[in-house]
Amino acid sequence: MWVYCPDMAGARMRGMAVVTGASSGIGAATARALAGDGWRVVVGARRVDRIEALAADIGALSHQLDVDDADSVERFAAFVTGADDDRGGMVGPSRLLVNNAGGALGWAPVADADEQQWRAMYETNVLGVVRMIKALLPMLEARGDGTVVTVGSIAGYEPYPNGGGYNAAKFAVRAAMSALRQELLGRPVRVCEIDPGMVATEFSLVRFGGDAERAAAVYEGVTPLTAEDVAECIRWVAARPPHVNVDQLVVLARDQAGARQIHRHTADDG
Ligand SMILES: NC(=O)c1ccc[n+]([C@@H]2O[C@H](COP(=O)([O-])OP(=O)(O)OC[C@H]3O[C@@H](n4cnc5c(N)ncnc54)[C@H](OP(=O)(O)O)[C@@H]3O)[C@@H](O)[C@H]2O)c1
Repeated sequence: MWVYCPDMAGARMRGMAVVTGASSGIGAATARALAGDGWRVVVGARRVDRIEALAADIGALSHQLDVDDADSVERFAAFVTGADDDRGGMVGPSRLLVNNAGGALGWAPVADADEQQWRAMYETNVLGVVRMIKALLPMLEARGDGTVVTVGSIAGYEPYPNGGGYNAAKFAVRAAMSALRQELLGRPVRVCEIDPGMVATEFSLVRFGGDAERAAAVYEGVTPLTAEDVAECIRWVAARPPHVNVDQLVVLARDQAGARQIHRHTADDG
């Protein structure tokens, strides 16, 4: 169930970092970037084979996690808290939770909304984040220097046609992060948000139910961000001194100016 890699024992210790949705894309790249920056990383996702392979590769711990399922979150949190005591070398000066698990399902006008997909998006992108925060906040705060980084989206600032369900979820999680930041004022926990535009990951493949051609068309003629570009933003935000809170960081590809404005290069562009 878990992989402990003693090679990391001598690494510069920033403390323990939890990354949700680390089985692909931004989450996997973030886990890698954080491990490389001296964090002891715990990765979670539903596809256990993937997180186990990643953990073995970067010297992290892994545990199954479905943020939609309160029991799964509870088991994951118990694993993380336990890791502090009995796995050796896990204790560090600060703690970090990266709420990355999420994504979009479907592409349809509001008038044709698939309620099941809307509910599922709210469940993962909003309630999943809230569950993780409820489970790990006491631990983050107890260290006297905790950080929550939530991966939102440009879709949480600018709605676009056919994206209503995803827009609603990402707007909602941004509202929740803002409320949390105010609630925690005066307490030693930072609340940060990274809001990317187009990133080439499995995001579109998931959104379009596995239709690879449709997913590839999203990035046609565009140089999108890579998962590593976003991971580097998260690594940087987490590495700021404890008194510096990067509230929101919107990061877009040069070919994108807002959720709806995308420049697609053609052969005529020269
Ligand atoms: N790619 C983009 O263009 C883009 C832009 C802005 C924001 N974002 C946001 O970035 C985050 C990461 O997405 P990505 O682009 O890296 O897409 P991705 O490659 O599809 O990765 C999504 C990750 O979320 C995990 N996940 C989904 N549902 C989960 C659940 N119920 N419990 C636990 N893990 C779950 C998946 O793991 P399992 O399936 O193994 O559980 C996977 O590791 C998402 O919040 C997404 O909304 C993406």
